[in-house]
Amino acid sequence: MSNWTRRKPLLPSGERSADALPPSLSWPQLMAMGVGAIIGTGILTLIGVGVDRAGPAVLISFAIAGAVCACAALAYAELSAMMPAAGSAYSYSYAGLGEVFAWVVGWSLILEYSLVVSTVAVGWSGYASPLLMGIGFPEALTKGPELGGLINLPAVAIIAVVAGLLLLGTRESARINSILVVVKIVTLLLFVGYTLPHFDAANLDPFMPYGYVAHIDGDGVQRGVMAAAAIIFFAFYGFDAISTAAEETKRPARDLPIAIIGSMAVCTLIYMLVAATAVGATPFKTFADSPEPLALILRSIGQGGIAQIVATTAVVALPTVLLAFLYGQSRIFLAMARDGFLPHRLAHISRRGTPTRITLLTALIVAVLAGLLPIGKVAALANAGTLIAFMAVGICLLVLRRRAPDMPRPFRVRAAWFVGLGTVGGCLYLFLSLPVETLLWCLIWNLIGLGLYAVYGQRQSRLAQTGVEG
Ligand code: ALA
Repeated sequence: MSNWTRRKPLLPSGERSADALPPSLSWPQLMAMGVGAIIGTGILTLIGVGVDRAGPAVLISFAIAGAVCACAALAYAELSAMMPAAGSAYSYSYAGLGEVFAWVVGWSLILEYSLVVSTVAVGWSGYASPLLMGIGFPEALTKGPELGGLINLPAVAIIAVVAGLLLLGTRESARINSILVVVKIVTLLLFVGYTLPHFDAANLDPFMPYGYVAHIDGDGVQRGVMAAAAIIFFAFYGFDAISTAAEETKRPARDLPIAIIGSMAVCTLIYMLVAATAVGATPFKTFADSPEPLALILRSIGQGGIAQIVATTAVVALPTVLLAFLYGQSRIFLAMARDGFLPHRLAHISRRGTPTRITLLTALIVAVLAGLLPIGKVAALANAGTLIAFMAVGICLLVLRRRAPDMPRPFRVRAAWFVGLGTVGGCLYLFLSLPVETLLWCLIWNLIGLGLYAVYGQRQSRLAQTGVEG
């Protein structure tokens, strides 16, 4: 049996394996998890990077990134309801495409989930550290060695807190998450409400100062509407983390599609409002490349108090992104450990119904990344990993429509060809609009992954040992 064609049997909706995690979530908690994962550093800070790359035409960048993610969300909705597996895109690829593809997707998902946790933790530390230093916390402990410090302790601490919450239980984490998500939504709506009266169409002129196609500008920066879309993409994903909760979902066939599509729709609506009011309220150069663009815009229209609320929300509510992505990474690792690609002992489930060992290991990895490494600017690399996973999901949607046409699909996407090709083509377009350096790092990462598969993965594969093929 070749490694390429070796496929895991599809475990259809409604069937649960003996070692499955206990189901405790329904669509409201899942939708909150999705919104909690999506709204984060992306909308709070990347809109500044976006206008720097595209000018007011960042609105088109938002629309493009949103449309690609909408296609991906539909594909995720069909596949997750059809075969609710904790491994998400990794598991769909194992069933639909084969073991080597699954390995590459699992390896790319590490870029997505682990790098998002690390970058968001460092971003959170950027907001929290000034407050901590105000009460005498040493500056050397607020940044990693690359910035002249010793360790980014606030980033490590917030990861530890979130991991502790996850170990306490999935349902408890979901409850706290839901409260924080409301705080985030209210804050963004406050932003929209206070900036809307200042909307001036003159601020949208010139609309597309840097053109459409991604290109290196005179100052060496990658610019254009597509360059901005490839970065803004970061703000949109996170709905996919919902699919990693499939095993813990009470009625996956119903709950997963509602939560995935619902969270994506709510966030897209809010983002379009925020982006439109942001570029309409002030000339874009005022907040281009600012680390806190929304607060800056509010201050420039004389709303210092609301700006303070936005900054405080970042400290209080950003951890929901960490929660969802740390949760997602631990579930993907769990699926990989069950398949033999990580030591099987790690797949142990505690009496509280949580995968303790894998959660601790995941937290340790991302804490080291966040605490010690120059991680601040790797959002683009997380995007590259995510785009590979989304492309795989689009391909799986199309392949499984042909290969398993009669398998029950509790949620059936209409115009599947359009959605599948839209996901694959759109993600490829965004992928190729990323900086060349990011693509090189992504290639190096995947070559390391394939090397590991050759020397370790293919021998450890449980599927190879048991000989069951899909
Ligand atoms: N969408 C998430 C964020 O913007 C990753 O933080």
